[in-house]
Amino acid sequence: MLAALGTMWSCAPETPVNPAENTDEPDPDGPRIVLASPGPMIPPVPAILLTIEGAEDEPDEISVLWTFVVSGDPPQIGVSAASEHRARGLLELHTEFVLNLPTATMVEAFDIADMNSSRTADKFELTGFTRGRALAVDAPTIEESPIHCECRIIASLDVPPDRKLFIAEIVATTVSEGAVDSEGRLNVSRVPFFGMTAGSGEHYTMGERIGNIGMTVGRTDIKY
Ligand SMILES: Cc1cc2nc3c(=O)[nH]c(=O)nc-3n(C[C@H](O)[C@H](O)[C@H](O)COP(=O)(O)O)c2cc1C
Repeated sequence: MLAALGTMWSCAPETPVNPAENTDEPDPDGPRIVLASPGPMIPPVPAILLTIEGAEDEPDEISVLWTFVVSGDPPQIGVSAASEHRARGLLELHTEFVLNLPTATMVEAFDIADMNSSRTADKFELTGFTRGRALAVDAPTIEESPIHCECRIIASLDVPPDRKLFIAEIVATTVSEGAVDSEGRLNVSRVPFFGMTAGSGEHYTMGERIGNIGMTVGRTDIKY
């Protein structure tokens, strides 16, 4: 079956990665501990900076939000906004925004954007980020980010007690040369993207490539 699929897609099988060879794995025979409080312990979720226009006479917003891919085709992504944060009302007001992917050199400015509110200051001035303009949506961008996903909201869901999920279609994606290969595939090993951990509140770069989607059936064509 696996060989048949490999032939069907005409792909050379990659060398499978054997998790047992990774000596840094936690001891599977160690005791499992129940934590005092449950949490979304998921390390690490890619760091993103959402940019969106401000309300009238207010500065544009740069927010750190949890994101998730909803679908690769059509390209759809979700973000979660808490009612206490400015991004929430602005997403409802404008319905268009940009997801800017920061790199490791931007981590301090990333934290400044997170730790400050645009209710009191312009986050572009605080962070030193260069304000750009999206091509297909009405929203600002962070020019230093090598990837911009330009998004338009298509659905939303209230999540008690205080969150709202916004599902958006990605209507345009722009990238810096070097962030993708000649076929337009994301080149993670060449750009120091980073993630943020739920469970320890830290930032980590993405580490090393350990495989690819479809490697167990000899596929290298899946991009999403
Ligand atoms: C790791 C991390 C994840 C966050 N996720 C969200 C989120 O999903 N939704 C949200 O509304 N705020 C989230 N925040 C917090 C805000 O985006 C951030 O503090 C915001 O910049 C505050 O600005 P404001 O008060 O002007 O909205 C997150 C912060 C961090 C560090």
